[in-house]
Amino acid sequence: MDFKLTEEQLMIQQAARDFAQNELLPEVIERDDAQRFPEEEVKKMGELGFLGMMVDSKYGGSGLDTLSYVLVMEELSKVDASCSVIVSVNNSLVCWGLETFGTEEQKQKYLTRLTTGESIGAFCLSEPEAGSDATSQKTTAIDKGDHYVLNGTKNWITNGSSADIYLVIAQTDIEKGHKGINALIVEKGAEGFEIGPKENKLGIRGSDTHSLIFNDVKVPKKNRIGEDGFGFKFAMKTLSGGRIGIAAQALGIAAGAYELALKYSKQRKAFGTEIANHQAIAFKLADMHTSIEAARMLVYKAAMDKDNHENYDLSGAMAKLYASKVAMDVAVEAVQIHGGNGFVKDYHVERLMRDAKITQIYEGTSEIQKIVISRSILRD
Ligand code: CAA
Repeated sequence: MDFKLTEEQLMIQQAARDFAQNELLPEVIERDDAQRFPEEEVKKMGELGFLGMMVDSKYGGSGLDTLSYVLVMEELSKVDASCSVIVSVNNSLVCWGLETFGTEEQKQKYLTRLTTGESIGAFCLSEPEAGSDATSQKTTAIDKGDHYVLNGTKNWITNGSSADIYLVIAQTDIEKGHKGINALIVEKGAEGFEIGPKENKLGIRGSDTHSLIFNDVKVPKKNRIGEDGFGFKFAMKTLSGGRIGIAAQALGIAAGAYELALKYSKQRKAFGTEIANHQAIAFKLADMHTSIEAARMLVYKAAMDKDNHENYDLSGAMAKLYASKVAMDVAVEAVQIHGGNGFVKDYHVERLMRDAKITQIYEGTSEIQKIVISRSILRD
């Protein structure tokens, strides 16, 4: 494995680092406090090409590889995980799914808007009673000839109110189980489509998370992605790549918390010397640094598997499982190293600790990743 980054990848990494420092950092605490969506920042990310990173340039994308995308996710997440989840959902769950499985008409109509930031996408799989158990879809998409009629509720949808294009997974034929599920493109403003109240969250408070309600929403058949009954596989395949994005987000949160703790420990004095000179702190930093490096190897490996057209279900699940644990552990230690200052908002590490938790939950909990990993190693 060669993890040496190309000139182009280094440039993209630097551009994301500069953007995060100059544009995201200044108001990140206020956005978190007020649960304010980063509208202006998302527009700028669209201009920089961060919203359609892996999409072909003929649809307005940046045409880059997955490793470049991971580098951007890592840098944005060091500073603002609310912004990076918007980027992750738009890139991996919405743009990738549409480009890989959509019709030419769907790509022309929707992808070109999603890559530039003119529109934002949302991926709607989870339901009040179907989170981890994703085949148990209660939302129905009844076949009415040239259209479907959609009814049901989706929960915890990232970009819930800010999106304009929603990929909705729903059951068409209950008898067929997961083979009776479809993925449909629904536009904001469709009659009968209602956005529920905004969730008040522990972390990633700048991203907007809502429930969505569908009441007899008519969706044209040409808005179905793939063949009839492909919806569950569509969701699984899309999530396999999404997990690499979230693993990169977790890596970035860990790296951001570590960098702050390292800097602080070299400045803060106790017992007559900088706290980094105390072995109690130095050993914490050693553990944090080691685990971040290990997580980075897993995340980059998963990205390279995808770029090399290898199977990345296993490597992506391992990267997410491990990196999200590292994010949580490192962020907790970063708060500890900051002591009392770590407990107040101005020092950023408490937010990173709150943000870290969701990486162990969304796009498949850590327990679901273990199902994916164990099934894969037992099958091979
Ligand atoms: N690629 C292609 N096909 C796949 C697949 C994959 N990665 N994983 C499963 N499948 C296929 C299987 O082969 C099977 O097809 P066949 O019957 O034709 O063989 C079918 O899908 C059903 O698979 P399983 O029998 O394995 O299904 P299961 O009920 O045991 O569930 C699961 C599998 C892995 C637990 C799955 O339900 C799962 O991933 N759950 C978690 C869902 C999840 O990640 N939710 C996150 C919500 S989205 C989100 O968080 C986005 C956001 O806003 C940030």
